[in-house]
Amino acid sequence: MAETPVPATLADVPRERWPQHIAIIMDGNGRWARQRRLPRMEGHRAGRDSVERVLEVVEDLGLKQVTLYAFSHENWSRPQDEIDSLMKLYRRNLVAERRRITEKNARFINIGRRDKLPAAVLKEVETNERLGAENTGPVLCLAVNYGGRQEIVDAARSLARDAAAGTLDPETIDEATFASRLYTAGQSDPDLLIRTGGEMRVSNFLLWQISYTELYVTDVLWPDFQKEDLYRAMADYARRQRRFGGLSPDDVR
Ligand code: IPE
Ligand code: IPE
Ligand code: MG
Repeated sequence: MAETPVPATLADVPRERWPQHIAIIMDGNGRWARQRRLPRMEGHRAGRDSVERVLEVVEDLGLKQVTLYAFSHENWSRPQDEIDSLMKLYRRNLVAERRRITEKNARFINIGRRDKLPAAVLKEVETNERLGAENTGPVLCLAVNYGGRQEIVDAARSLARDAAAGTLDPETIDEATFASRLYTAGQSDPDLLIRTGGEMRVSNFLLWQISYTELYVTDVLWPDFQKEDLYRAMADYARRQRRFGGLSPDDVR
């Protein structure tokens, strides 16, 4: 595979300090559209190009995983026509992604409750997951109808079911057991969580998984998010000192 040149922003950042798993709350599509006096849907459509740019970076730099928050459990409270148009857009994008899964050896995973997804969307999700199931390249994880609290409830239910059936001893449940029942079972936790659009909140995203994830909020609206913005977030991450509750080497001396 041809080596892609490292962008200038990351040139002085050792590769081992790059985040390997980046999660993104892709927010600000509506505001982007409003700034241009366009319908909100135009913002969502323009956001698709930002997804494309991020996926290219993930592939070019050989990162392990990107997890994108596309539609939350709470987003069902939006007007029905926005929801319908968003679902149509996802369906089309899922079909378009298929080429990437094959050409880039990528894996596709969908997280979120599936029962409420329109059948046409679910069909493409399942096709993409099947297509990339054995692939060993970058992981593209898409959160649609995702809610962190709902995910934790679903995991608790699944454990309770097994305990009630007598196949699981409650005393053996530890963090690893619990994590294995989340939608993200088998995945590493994100190293870096980026939120565009400037809001300082996590909006029910990956509540369990981001315990020690580094947070980065930018005012840039999602459709305006450029590769350079991602490099900047990565470089910022590289300067952080992750202590996981311990002490830094300086403190120990
Ligand atoms: C994020 O953009 C995309 C979704 C939640 C589907 P918004 O639609 O929330 O955009 P703003 O926050 O209104 O600008
Ligand atoms: C978070 O954005 C969800 C997604 C980006 C999919 P929202 O726009 O729904 O979040 P709030 O309502 O501002 O918290
Ligand atoms: Mg928003």
